[in-house]
Amino acid sequence: MSRLRIIHRIVNRFLIFLHFSILFFVFQTCYAVDSSTITPTKAITDSQTLSSTGGVFKLGFFSPPNSTHRYVGIWYEFDPRQNIVWVANRDNPLKDSSGTLRIADDGNIVIVDGRGVVYWTTNVSGITAPKNSVAELLDTGNLEFRLPNNSVWQSFDHPTHTFLPGMKIGGSTVTGKKLELTSWKSESDPSTGIFSLMLELLGDHPQLVIWRNGSKFRLWRSGPWNSIIFIGIPEMTYAQAFSLSEDNMYISFKDPNKMYPQFVLDHYGAFLGEQWDADRDSWYDFWSSQSNTCDTYGTCGSFGSCNPSNLSICSCLIGFKPRFEDEWSKGNWSGGCVRNTQLECQDSGFGNPNTVDGFKKLESVKVPDNAIVSLLLISLLEDCKMICLRNCSCLAYSYDIGIGCMTWDENLVDIQQFTQRGTDLYIRLAPSDIDLALKNSTNPARKDSTDHGLSKDGIVIIVIIAVLVGMLAISICAYLFWQWLTKQRGYIASDWDNIHQETPDNPDQVKVYKFQELAIATNNFSGANMLGQDPTKKECLDWKKRFQIIEGISRGMLYLHRDSRLRVIHRDLKVSNILLDEDLNPKISDFGMARIFGGNEQQGSTRRVVGTLGYMPPEYIMDGRFSEKSDVFSFGVLLLEVVSGRKTTSFHHLGQSLSLLGYAWQLWNECKMELLIDPTILHESTPLAEIFRCIQVGLLCVQECARDRPTMSTTLSMLTSEITSLPTPKQTAFIERKVSTPLDSFAHSLGAASVNHLTITHIEGR
Ligand SMILES: *[C@@H]1O[C@H](CO)[C@@H](O)[C@H](O)[C@H]1NC(C)=O
Ligand SMILES: *[C@@H]1O[C@H](CO)[C@@H](O)[C@H](O)[C@H]1NC(C)=O
Ligand SMILES: *[C@@H]1O[C@H](CO)[C@@H](O)[C@H](O)[C@H]1NC(C)=O
Repeated sequence: MSRLRIIHRIVNRFLIFLHFSILFFVFQTCYAVDSSTITPTKAITDSQTLSSTGGVFKLGFFSPPNSTHRYVGIWYEFDPRQNIVWVANRDNPLKDSSGTLRIADDGNIVIVDGRGVVYWTTNVSGITAPKNSVAELLDTGNLEFRLPNNSVWQSFDHPTHTFLPGMKIGGSTVTGKKLELTSWKSESDPSTGIFSLMLELLGDHPQLVIWRNGSKFRLWRSGPWNSIIFIGIPEMTYAQAFSLSEDNMYISFKDPNKMYPQFVLDHYGAFLGEQWDADRDSWYDFWSSQSNTCDTYGTCGSFGSCNPSNLSICSCLIGFKPRFEDEWSKGNWSGGCVRNTQLECQDSGFGNPNTVDGFKKLESVKVPDNAIVSLLLISLLEDCKMICLRNCSCLAYSYDIGIGCMTWDENLVDIQQFTQRGTDLYIRLAPSDIDLALKNSTNPARKDSTDHGLSKDGIVIIVIIAVLVGMLAISICAYLFWQWLTKQRGYIASDWDNIHQETPDNPDQVKVYKFQELAIATNNFSGANMLGQDPTKKECLDWKKRFQIIEGISRGMLYLHRDSRLRVIHRDLKVSNILLDEDLNPKISDFGMARIFGGNEQQGSTRRVVGTLGYMPPEYIMDGRFSEKSDVFSFGVLLLEVVSGRKTTSFHHLGQSLSLLGYAWQLWNECKMELLIDPTILHESTPLAEIFRCIQVGLLCVQECARDRPTMSTTLSMLTSEITSLPTPKQTAFIERKVSTPLDSFAHSLGAASVNHLTITHIEGR
């Protein structure tokens, strides 16, 4: 009896134990799968995973392709191929599947194998309450290790080869805390490879650099940051994605539209922009830092320029010749180029700018490495030239609106010719080489090799023709291939934009018309030449469209003045700088004259008046003072032009040479505003009240006194009738002086040929 009872009791206990075990097991399994956290009582075994709170990322053990080693990594939950974005124990894999990720007794997160050997640890010292440690996988892909009220460690501070939205790259040279990407060794080996990507700090204008073998060889660089893009990446266009931290130490990017962009430093050293293609369930590359040979740092040596679409990709800059002719002609460009003629500056020193060296402009390039950024933040291209000219060690200069003036005083390395965008670079040359450059630039068949006495030989001509034909063929093939590629993979710059679904201001991708071209085509803006051409297109710009354009421009200007991170005064707003897309949406272009204003700066002044006559307010022409109100003035002129369909500068009325502004002012005073309206938009249904309102706003914008003019935001509110009672305009600028007379003579004294199209850059005040 008693034996039976004992057996019964044992069986009973066993069942209870089994019951609890199963319960516990089920509980633990379910919990671990669903949970986003690891705690001292909740670990993860090799077969389990952790999901981030919103289920975006997963963390767990994995083996790379063709490998049996076990690593702990993080991947996107939706990615069936589990492309890894982060690896914990990259240099110390487990050889079997006995691993566990758990909180150790000292409170750290550790990876241990079945025998308790530690393979990886977060290695935070001084944890006082290890029982309170919590590790959570966040929806950003960040594994965060917290003690109560305190984050002590996060995987984002230990990046591997993937740059995710919200992550930072950069680092302080002072604190030594550096965040950089390092490549994997190979596809099947996540251990630390030979390529690293870091942010090279240069004040406000850092650049990304990929190194090979520690800090020995530069493989690639992005060019300096200009607050919106890295200027050596012409495909990069949109403003919001990347940003530099306040302390200029870290760069990061965002993913507001949930397109899941990421950047991966692969084991060949290429930095790849990838995006999730939900339709194909895979990642596709929308950009690569190594898309052609010229992307490799310094391919053409010093003073060489690399053009991937040339048959021979390297050429010496104009005014330079190969250092080692033989090696160069064999395609060994490492020796670079040397100057043909010594700079005069070296002899004449602090000389007269008119007799010493000049500059040759190289358009749309990746500017050389090691730029010296001028501390004079708001300087113009012209100022930049003077900075360079007055310094004998300056070899080149360049100007970018977000950076200001850049100069170079050592070897010019890593110049790449782009087909679009890029930056213009001005290279200092001796006067004799400038003449040569001018001669050559008028000859479209120029190759740099013609500098070296090859042209006499008849054979050479044949060779050149052959080369040209070859280049043409290759260009055509390349173009066709490019088109194919574009169709196939969307493998073009616009994908940068797609991430943020912004339309780039890029004439190559959006079909744009210059407003002026359109105006000419529709004959709407030619007051003197109403010859009655293309009549069907006259209807193209009816009042509704015109108002839409006006509103679009004012919103654009408001953005520049108020909403953009940098306050920008455009200074050259005019009809020809407004581009229209297919839907006639206006885009403001040509920021060549623009100035960035600091936070509280209200007004600037310049000794050099730049802009276009007819659009410049009096205080600017006379005293060089400019502010938001100068742009408002230009906008007012533009508005009156759009309403009247007449150009401000080529305006004649009944033989009077009043200015358009003067004419408008006269009509306003005579209460005959309807005479100002372009007859082609006058129909029965035209909302005259709206047009009169626009004229009044236009007149308010062009008031003589800058103080009286409304701001851009008020202007917009008045246009859109948010403000209903408009003030009465005071006297308009340029009425009594017949505008064509003083301004024309002004222009003539400068040797200006055309008033409207010329952007004057040399008015020097005293
Ligand atoms: C942990 O950190 C200490 C210094 O804080 C360092 O000496 C040690 O090597 C680290 N251990 C591991 C396993 O990383
Ligand atoms: C390339 O030219 C340099 C001289 O500029 C020379 O030292 C080097 O050996 C050459 N490399 C090859 C592969 O010929
Ligand atoms: C110009 O001169 C200064 C001082 O002589 C020097 O520090 C600077 O690097 C020079 N070069 C350029 C390109 O500005």
